[in-house]
Amino acid sequence: MREKPQSADLLHWYDRHARNLPWRVPPGAEVDPDPYRVWLSEVMLQQTTVAAVKSYFERFTTLWPTVSNLADAEDQAVMGEWAGLGYYARARNLLKCARVVRDAHGGRFPDQREDLLKLPGIGPYTASAIAAIAFDRAETVVDGNVERVMARLYDIHTPLPAAKPELTEKAAGLTPDLRPGDYAQAVMDLGATICTPRNPACGICPWSAACIARVNRTAAELPKKTPK
Ligand code: ADE
Repeated sequence: MREKPQSADLLHWYDRHARNLPWRVPPGAEVDPDPYRVWLSEVMLQQTTVAAVKSYFERFTTLWPTVSNLADAEDQAVMGEWAGLGYYARARNLLKCARVVRDAHGGRFPDQREDLLKLPGIGPYTASAIAAIAFDRAETVVDGNVERVMARLYDIHTPLPAAKPELTEKAAGLTPDLRPGDYAQAVMDLGATICTPRNPACGICPWSAACIARVNRTAAELPKKTPK
């Protein structure tokens, strides 16, 4: 198993500061994350904030505790519960995916990124997130938070979206074989709570000693974006 010192620092921080979110298993808990809950939360979080998703997630998992329960639901019931989250194609794909998992996979999500990618509504980001968080595969999960953290850590001034491949490569380079799922969520939490778009809290950041943008005083202007 590869240990990466920088990733270990972040995991140590995550052990103490992980956000308590309804789809998460707290770090160190003896139970494994439920792939259904990981999938449902990642689909809901695709275009919606954590704050908005929480109550929807609680309602969905109360009404439909398993993926097979969701697959058995009436379309109208699911679309009705989705109302307000927007992007309704997500909800239609959600049902399609639940039914494929029920009918073709015996009600269990596949545990490899390549197989997850074949399911309706699961793209590269979601496949990596489920593989890492639910199955502890060493996949790299890159969302907007992760892009910002990497741009600052390595002081990358190439504007988005052109910088995406480079930022993804940096994130992949830091992904540990040990606890990749916690690592993925730790980078997201770092971006959401410390390495924020405005006024980042560099003074309490577990990566401050390694952060090149901090030395160069460029954090506030990163990541750069190509004007629309
Ligand atoms: N945004 C998308 N997935 C997330 C997760 N697992 N934890 C926190 N924020 C997220």
